[in-house]
Amino acid sequence: MHDDIFPVPEGTRQRSPNPLTTLDAWRAMRADAQHDPDAFWLAETRRRIAWRTPPTLGLEGSFRDIGEQPVAWFADGTLNVTESCLDRHLATRGDKVAILWEGDEPDQVRRITYAELHAMVCKAANALSDLGVRKGHRVIIYMGMVPEAVVAMLATARLGAVHSVVFGGFSSDSLRDRVIDCGARVVITMDEGLRGGRKIPLKATVDHACLGLDVQHVVVLRHTRGPVGWVEGRDVDWHQIVQPASAEHRAVECAAEDPLFILYTSGSTGKPKGLVHTCGGYLTWVSFTHQHVFDLREDDVYACVADIGWITGHSYIVYGPLANGATTLVFESTPLYPDAGRYWDMVERHKLTIFYTAPTALRTLAAAGDAFVERSNRSSLRVLGTVGEPINPGAWIWYHGVVGEGRCSIVDTWWQTETGGICIAPLAAVTPQKPGSATLPMPSIEPFLVDARGDRVRGPGSGLLCLEWPWPGIARTVWGDHERYVSTYFGQVPPYYFTGDGCRRDEDGYFWITGRVDDVINVSGHRMGTAEFESALVSVDAIAESAVVGYPHTMKGQGVYAYVVVQPGVAWTAELERAAHDSIRTSIGAHARVDCFQLVPGLPKTRSGKVMRRILRKVAEGDPSNLGDLSTLADPSVVDAIIDGALTPPNRG
Ligand code: WTA
Repeated sequence: MHDDIFPVPEGTRQRSPNPLTTLDAWRAMRADAQHDPDAFWLAETRRRIAWRTPPTLGLEGSFRDIGEQPVAWFADGTLNVTESCLDRHLATRGDKVAILWEGDEPDQVRRITYAELHAMVCKAANALSDLGVRKGHRVIIYMGMVPEAVVAMLATARLGAVHSVVFGGFSSDSLRDRVIDCGARVVITMDEGLRGGRKIPLKATVDHACLGLDVQHVVVLRHTRGPVGWVEGRDVDWHQIVQPASAEHRAVECAAEDPLFILYTSGSTGKPKGLVHTCGGYLTWVSFTHQHVFDLREDDVYACVADIGWITGHSYIVYGPLANGATTLVFESTPLYPDAGRYWDMVERHKLTIFYTAPTALRTLAAAGDAFVERSNRSSLRVLGTVGEPINPGAWIWYHGVVGEGRCSIVDTWWQTETGGICIAPLAAVTPQKPGSATLPMPSIEPFLVDARGDRVRGPGSGLLCLEWPWPGIARTVWGDHERYVSTYFGQVPPYYFTGDGCRRDEDGYFWITGRVDDVINVSGHRMGTAEFESALVSVDAIAESAVVGYPHTMKGQGVYAYVVVQPGVAWTAELERAAHDSIRTSIGAHARVDCFQLVPGLPKTRSGKVMRRILRKVAEGDPSNLGDLSTLADPSVVDAIIDGALTPPNRG
């Protein structure tokens, strides 16, 4: 392990206008939150959020009682989150750019001020209200990265309705499942998305997904102006309803614990679950973490290049930055279009000061060569962030040395869809960094590690990462299935929150996330369940059984290795492999792809029929020598056949 310490760069520390500048002060803040979490977070939220009725209650409930009742924060407060993100900035920041948009082509730029964004959101809220959207209704947003996608989210929230953004790469089957699960009445989409010069037929996918469903309206933003189908009475044109609407709108008052959004994410088993985030605690958490981790300053030009279809986009493109009155980039394209210098050209073009991306992009860009970085002036950069997967020290050092010219703080931020916002990360102006470590926890994040026997690991050591205390940003439930929420997150190491990640803690108390220990795989920062791949594969007639595991991939973090058993008498042909790929694309989406198929005579099962995935993982990783205890296997000869037929998957690291 690389345990070199990188101190906070002098320039970053000295010029910080933020009051918190030393590690001791940060530790003292954590101690305050530990000592009296209610007082700590009530003070934070009152300072950060424009409450209609300021709360007097802090935390209610506990992990121990979570089966009976979700935890609540600030339960007697009322607000509308868009007043914190828009209205209250009008007096002081009306002319400041809120959204800086760069389109698929680098010369397409829009700058939308807080005053303009406020007007756009009010108009869209009035238009959606005219369509019948009311408090508590669910609205699905299936769009590319355009400012109107953010407007759609905020307009929904302004009505007290609940948005569920579905990443534009998901297939119509996936979209349909989500529309049904949350009972959406309205879907907001656009004709086509654009990514790297390619058109993505979003409206056509929505049409397919909604066949036979009780969706009352599909609102369509014209973006590429490509041809689309039209269902009379159901479909409405975004501009036609939004443009004539009034730019005045009184936001709907919500309780702190009213749902703000549902975001679907993959777990170990079954279908993706809709994590529910609520208004008051979530907004407090993303505002707090966004300010402190990135050492946010008034004149920052902040860029997070995630997609709003994932939690990173929700928390650190939309809600955190807007709550903090920042200028936030909305980026439509990809890191490789028109070439591998796109990000760094963009840094120069807009004088970006903070840049937040995923390790997978950094590995790809590093492989393209330093010339793509060095051709652009990056002197504006001060803070560089990563999220979504463990960052290998090599990529960290490259980010720090080549992109940041040794001048910038690197913030490796660990968190999850479920946590709402960043949980373990350095503060850019405060925390000495170690390449590959997410460093230290935020206030009210109380991590602990348990070993294989379920005992707590004291001091340095490795184990499963759990969190002891509820923090304001935690997802409150799974939409429509609180029991699943309780058993998934609180049933493994009861009564605590189990993250699903493995982790090491070093002598300095720094945390090093090692990756998922469950059947979630993380490909290029996209979180997917092996069960979703398997169910797509066995829906192909010729495939009898399948088991899918991750393997370490030098670029994507993890690659996807699929073991397949075919029906008797069937051969594994190129045609069958194509059918397998197609099935996955149809049932999950284009971002899900198997890297390597191995045909096997059977899966290694215990006598009770449980697949021993440990064996399959080891073989896919290229380490079949130490498979552990095989005595419970029903048919040990299967293992020999699996080892004999093992393949070397592409880019195995
Ligand atoms: C992984 C993304 C190591 C982790 C915000 C987690 C990380 C999962 C890091 C959540 C990091 C995220 N270092 N691993 N800095 N950040 N992860 O829900 O396995 O899409 O459980 O949320 O990504 O993925 P999700």
